[in-house]
Formats: sequence, structure tokens, C-alpha cells
Amino acid sequence: MNVSLPVRYDFPLRDLNTFGIDARTYAYLAISDERMLAALHANTELHALPRLVLGGGSNLLLTRDFAGLVLHMCTRGTRVVDEDADFVYVRAAAGENWHRFVMFTLEQGLGGLENLALIPGNVGASPIQNIGAYGVELKDCFHSLTAWDFESGETFTLDREACGFAYRDSIFKHELRDRAVILDVIFALPKRWRPNMAYADVAQELAARNIADPKPLDIANAVIAIRTRKLPDPQQIGNAGSFFKNPLVSEATRSALLARYPNLVSYAQPSGEYKLAAGWLIDQCGWKGRSMGAAGVYEKQALVLVNRGGARGEDVVALARAIQADVEARFGVSLEPEPVFV
Ligand code: FAD
Ligand code: EPU
Repeated sequence: MNVSLPVRYDFPLRDLNTFGIDARTYAYLAISDERMLAALHANTELHALPRLVLGGGSNLLLTRDFAGLVLHMCTRGTRVVDEDADFVYVRAAAGENWHRFVMFTLEQGLGGLENLALIPGNVGASPIQNIGAYGVELKDCFHSLTAWDFESGETFTLDREACGFAYRDSIFKHELRDRAVILDVIFALPKRWRPNMAYADVAQELAARNIADPKPLDIANAVIAIRTRKLPDPQQIGNAGSFFKNPLVSEATRSALLARYPNLVSYAQPSGEYKLAAGWLIDQCGWKGRSMGAAGVYEKQALVLVNRGGARGEDVVALARAIQADVEARFGVSLEPEPVFV
């Protein structure tokens, strides 16, 4: 086996992160073939560098230049691999664009992922925070994944239970953090599909379109329309989607807040806890549309921080800290950032 490793040095990352932060990396390697990972494992010098696995760069905040090796997952390939009485199993490589993959499954007549249409980024990152939107999470259609272990230099597979999926969370943010790179994901798409219209926005959008009996593509189109109205297009305005997770609080905390703020937006969870709408909390503190230097809060959605042009990672961090302090002081609730800080 003779696989070359075309490493680039002092490489710019501005076009590889949706926030549009102008940072550089000491070294960069596009992984277009999984065999490159074995070659990397055998290369003592490169293997010793700090690593950052990069997909679409849509859930990252680059706070400084990266003094290590960026591994940009660019592997491609999508294939139906199996089926049984209940499911069709589809495998996609890490470097496949998520939205294009969702549209591919819909074109095959396979439902299941339609509520997750138009989420930026790649398939390989989708399990990292168990991406979710409009009442569906990745785990609902996830079957298994294959990953490469940087320590042992071997591949391994994980099923759904082993991934430890939770709200914006998985084993890849804990035990396997910085240790593994996801190579491909297999999805189990149901043969007896049912629409998920639990999210009020989706039901309203379908009603406005006079669609009473939606097909998977109708739901995808409704979700695409809602997202396009609410969220900034990273091609136009740099951002990483929601900047904070929606905080989970106890029933007692939610009741106490509700007594003081009758308009509080909260959602009951199966655990008995409540999820608060962080966007509402930030909006109430008067942050919507405001800026601090070149970093700002999006005019239409207070949970989204944006790059108004030339923002550095530290500008976004300063804005985030100011918002966290205000929300904590007013509501006694702490906000945890969603993107990964590098
Ligand atoms: P990156 O930003 O490249 O990486 C994110 C993290 O995953 C990093 O820690 C990286 O090291 C790691 N990683 C990436 N690829 C791999 C791999 N192959 N193996 C191991 N680790 C890897 N998220 C939602 O959940 N729901 C939404 O509705 C949503 N809406 C968004 C809207 C906008 C406008 C934007 C900009 C972002 C939104 N996001 C949303 C966040 C983001 O799209 C997702 O988190 C997405 O899965 C990130 O994919 P990526 O390829 O860009 O990951
Ligand atoms: N709200 C306000 N003011 C604002 C923003 C929101 O009052 O400025 C209120 C809304 O009126 C609504 C509630 O907050 O009642 C929730 O807002 P929205 O429906 O826009 O959803 P969200 O909770 O802000 C979450 C996810 C999104 C996902 C949508 C749809 C998180 C952190 N964010 O946003 O995911 O697309 O729901 O399911 O869970 C992401 O993770 O990057 C992301 C965009």
C-alpha cells in the first residue's frame, strides 16, 4: 500500500468554518481515502501533533490559530446496504454533505430524515451532537457507525446504544473526545413511515400550504421554508446556528420562573425536567439585533450569534460571555455554548 499524505502548512481556515473566522492551522490534510489514516498512524511526526477533525465547520468557533494538524474529512459515497421487513439501511461516508444526503434518501422514496433537512455540515459530524430539529433527532434513524481509533490505529463500530445519544450530546463529547474519527454512518429508514408534525411551526407551515396528508418531501420543503425564514445563511452572514443549548431545568425552577415571567417559553421533557427556550431568555435581556464590535446577535433569532464582518474568535467569545452574564443575573440560568471552541 502506498498512500501519500499531501500535508499543507500554514493553511487558512476562513473558508472552512461557517462563522468565517480568519484563523490558520499549522498543518492541514484533506482525508479523501480512509487508508490515509493508517499512513498517518505510521508517521511519527504527524501522529504526534494535536489534531482537529473537521467536517463542514458549521459547529465550531475558532478562538485562535490552531497549532496542530487539521484532518478535513472529504470521503464520499452513499449506498443502500441492506433491508429487512421494517427498515432500509443506507450508509453514507463522513464527507458527504448532510442536506444533500437527506435529499438523496427522499429521492429514493425513503422517509425518516425529512425534519432534519437543511442542517449544515457533513454526515460524519451528525452523531457528534446528535443533531436535531423540528421534533426529530439523529438517534431516531441511526443504526450504527464505523470510526477510526487514533490510539490503537484500528477501526471499530458502535450501535445506537453505545453512542450514548442525548440532547446535543454523545460519547464523542466525552470518552471518545479527540480519540476517534467517524468514517461512515448507517441509517435505518422505516418502511412504514409516519409524518412527525409535533413541532407547531411544521404543522402551521403545512396548513398554510393546504397539505393535510404530507409525504416526506412535503415535510422537508416545509422545514426548508421555516429554516430559511428564521436562520441566517452562512454564505451571507457568518454563524454557527444556535450558539447556546436550550437549558434543562427542574420542575421547581421552571415554576418559580413562570411565577415571575408568565410568558416564559418552556417544554416538558420525558425526564420530568423542562427545556427553556434560550432564545427567549436572551431576547428578554434585550440582546436581539445588538452588536459588540464585529460580533452580533441575529435580528430574527436571538440564539444565533453572527459575524458582522471581520470578527475574531475572541470578539464572539466576549459577546457570548456578556450574554451569559445577563441571562444568569436576570433568570439565574446558566447557558452552555453549543459549538465546539477550538
Ligand atoms: P464541524 O463544525 O466541522 O465539527 C463539529 C465537531 O464535530 C468538531 O468537534 C469536530 O472535530 C467534530 N467532527 C466533525 N466531523 C467529525 C468526524 N468525521 N469524526 C469525528 N469528529 C468529527 N445543529 C443541529 O443539531 N440542529 C440544527 O437545527 C442546526 N442548525 C444549524 C443552522 C445553521 C445556520 C448552522 C450554521 C449550524 C446549525 N447546526 C445545527 C449546527 C451544525 O450544523 C451541526 O452541529 C453539524 O452536525 C456540524 O457538522 P459539521 O460537519 O459542520 O461539523
Ligand atoms: N424565541 C424568542 N426570541 C428569539 C428566538 C426565539 O422569543 O429571538 C422563542 C420563539 O418564539 C420560540 C422559542 O423561543 O417560542 C424557540 O425558538 P425556535 O423555534 O426558533 O427554536 P430554538 O429553541 O431557538 C432549537 C434548536 C435549533 C433547531 C430548532 C428547531 C437548540 C439549541 N436549537 O432552536 O437548532 O433548528 O430548535 O427544532 O436546541 C442548532 O442547534 O444550531 C439549531 C439551529
